[in-house]
Amino acid sequence: MEKVELPGWDLGPVYFSEKIDSTNNYLKMLAGKGAPAGTVVWSREQTGGRGRRGRKWMSPRGGLYFSVLLHIQKGIKPSFSLVVGGSVIKALETRDVPGLKLKWPNDIFRGSKKVGGILCENLSGNLIVGIGLNLKPIKNLDFEEKFLPGNLGELQQYLPEEIIGLILRELKEDFQVYQEQGFCFFREKLQGRSFLLNRRVQVDNFSGEVMGYGEKGQLILKLPGGAFKEIWQGTVVLLEEG
Ligand code: BTN
Repeated sequence: MEKVELPGWDLGPVYFSEKIDSTNNYLKMLAGKGAPAGTVVWSREQTGGRGRRGRKWMSPRGGLYFSVLLHIQKGIKPSFSLVVGGSVIKALETRDVPGLKLKWPNDIFRGSKKVGGILCENLSGNLIVGIGLNLKPIKNLDFEEKFLPGNLGELQQYLPEEIIGLILRELKEDFQVYQEQGFCFFREKLQGRSFLLNRRVQVDNFSGEVMGYGEKGQLILKLPGGAFKEIWQGTVVLLEEG
């Protein structure tokens, strides 16, 4: 691990490695030793990258894999990963990456392909936010959802530290607002970026049409009988359109 600088990032130290098992794991270890808020771990490659629900996150060289430590004042809700997704999209839009959407609760899509993911892990007051973005084609992505992996190849023209710095600065601002005002502040904007809005989906035993997000970031489904169902966790599978 080497200490490096990220443009515009002064909240905490940044540790860089060419190869690591998982930036979330390493940051967890640092957090356990009292690392300050804003500590970042970034690696060019991960050998044990992790996704939500115990899935693997394939992390070959060429992608962006990093984690940031945030100290939370009160319990953070699962909706925060949506807010993080919004920060990533805003940052990338400043570099003319169009058409990015969020698939509840933590996936970043372009078109019908997944191009990135977010893994938030809460350890008593320490929140580890891990972000992974594909910049190159990925072959064996281990996806339970069966979505094809896509990539953000156009970002290869930038230095990785520039893109990571941009994302972290957006995230820092959004985290501040989230702590003060909660998910409500972001709800409408994030809904506009939803990959699932008005689509038919299945989540565990429920299927229905996605109506949007609730006040706390829960997914609202309209069931075939017309009743509404709030979904707080689970994996969303898209049903055939039409
Ligand atoms: C998902 O799609 O389920 C979330 C994927 C999150 C991957 C990132 S890459 C950086 C950080 N380190 C990990 O091991 N996972 C996250």
